[in-house]
Amino acid sequence: MLAALRKYLMVPKLLRLSAGAPKDHHLAWDRFWSGVKTTGASGDVLWDSGSDHEMQGYLGRLRLHLDPALPVVDIGCGNGSFTRQLARHFPHAVGVDVSDHAVRRARAESDGLANISYAVRDMTAAGAGSWLGEELHALGGGRGGGGAPRAGANVFIRGVLHVLGERDRCALAENVRAITGVNGRVFLAETDFRGNAIDYVSHLGATLRSIPAPLEGAIRGLPMPGRFGPKERSLAFPASRWTLIEDGPTTIETMPLSNPVRADLIPGYFAVLRARNRD
Ligand SMILES: C[S@@+](CC[C@H](N)C(=O)[O-])C[C@H]1O[C@@H](n2cnc3c(N)ncnc32)[C@H](O)[C@@H]1O
Repeated sequence: MLAALRKYLMVPKLLRLSAGAPKDHHLAWDRFWSGVKTTGASGDVLWDSGSDHEMQGYLGRLRLHLDPALPVVDIGCGNGSFTRQLARHFPHAVGVDVSDHAVRRARAESDGLANISYAVRDMTAAGAGSWLGEELHALGGGRGGGGAPRAGANVFIRGVLHVLGERDRCALAENVRAITGVNGRVFLAETDFRGNAIDYVSHLGATLRSIPAPLEGAIRGLPMPGRFGPKERSLAFPASRWTLIEDGPTTIETMPLSNPVRADLIPGYFAVLRARNRD
């Protein structure tokens, strides 16, 4: 019992570390990405495991539900680790992120790959989805042409909705509607950790004595993450606007944190959706 409570002695340290994080979330993300020196399994980005193992687990569902002839948009792409993996399975992958430094990094890490592009966009801003839809149409993503309804694009979201507040999640979902057109589908995978912030950082290897450096970097600089599960999905993607095709538990993989060699695993939630009532 006492041992279980000991982790709460971390509270003052965590409060001190997080006190300096910029209150403006977009600034926080950009500052974070500007400080990243390396990515992958031994890098600075805790949610980048440096492996395609997590993606391998998604592929069956992507193949089942998403039209492989359509392009895919990776919303909140970060350094593009998933964008690059998506580009192996779709004709074109577009990564978008609110952080200019993230997009610069993603471009540098994707150098030489022909069917990938990136853009800096706040995907909670009004009109961001229509703009992207038009760009994709120009790229050839909207089959049909001649006034036919736009086929649209698929949307992939990993680890983004759980860092947004409820209003921003709803705004992002509206932008996603504008991208998916008639045939596009959404695949999302988010952390859905059931516990408080102390349980969460303990799960990722923080102890009274030490905090893994990438975790400490995130605590110091980034907005406090929440969780995103079925309840949060039904609020952001309501049944009046979206049809739920499939959902369930999944696992989000991080770089090794609580041990030197194995990815850490965070309980997560996935969903596949399509927009309904299109006018
Ligand atoms: C936890 S990271 C996940 C990155 C990437 N999806 C991955 O799994 O490797 C969250 C990403 O969302 C981006 N982000 C946060 N708010 C955003 C917004 N409003 N519009 C677009 N991207 C956003 C951040 O800059 C960051 O790169």
